[in-house]
Amino acid sequence: LPDSRPIGVFDSGVGGLTVARAILDLLPNESILYVGDSSHFPYGPKPLDEIRGYALEIARALIERDVKMIVVACNSVEVAAIEDVTRAAGVPVIGVIDPAVRAAVHATRRGDIGMIGTQATVNSGAYERALARTGADATLASKACPSFVEYVERGDTMSDELRAEAERYLADLSGVDTLILGCTHYPLLAGLIQMVVGPDVMLVSSAEETAKDVYAALVEGDVQRHDHGPPSHKFLSTGDPEQFRGLAEVFLGPEISRVEAARLGD
Ligand code: DGL
Repeated sequence: LPDSRPIGVFDSGVGGLTVARAILDLLPNESILYVGDSSHFPYGPKPLDEIRGYALEIARALIERDVKMIVVACNSVEVAAIEDVTRAAGVPVIGVIDPAVRAAVHATRRGDIGMIGTQATVNSGAYERALARTGADATLASKACPSFVEYVERGDTMSDELRAEAERYLADLSGVDTLILGCTHYPLLAGLIQMVVGPDVMLVSSAEETAKDVYAALVEGDVQRHDHGPPSHKFLSTGDPEQFRGLAEVFLGPEISRVEAARLGD
């Protein structure tokens, strides 16, 4: 049946906009309701219990606002809470890890896959488990790059300081032929990361692959939006809406108009 309800997408900040962008590209007729939990950013260094608490609060807020599907556009949330979010939601929930691993398995030439992400994601071993589930003959080396997300949230994707940081982090992953950007903020640093690792390493980001899963879930569930009017997108930030809007304009593009301040859980 036609379903004009929005697709809910959330992250700790602007990183999940990389996934929202890919969904808008593949599904231009769908409305998106995005929540950036900027007041609790960053999630990556926090204990899993704390991340789970924030994630459940946002999931409940999305359900109250009547979304038809939830996209967990944050690896740190996925490792901490995807089962809980799925149980609480009552609508389909889509994550970013399996799509990224699937793409990496197809891309790798020698089976030497690398993954970079937050501390929460790297420590969880979730990517290793996802790779094992594919049954592919490949190994995974991972490295936490905690400061990357801070640069992205400041809108810095180009400074010398950031580049020096990237060189330090990525030195440990020489030898991989494919590198998974295991944090939804990192595609915004793909230019820098590619330059540092060199042209022979294939970068894999989950955004496009996740958007394909969203597409398939809409078609299989027969819940596409069929209205002829333009979709309406809504962006909520639990932090400073103006700051969020400025960055979102750069990273997401013209679909962003106003950002509303969200106080979840009250
Ligand atoms: N974008 C996030 C992720 O995919 C989290 C960034 C953060 O809040 O630490 O892990």
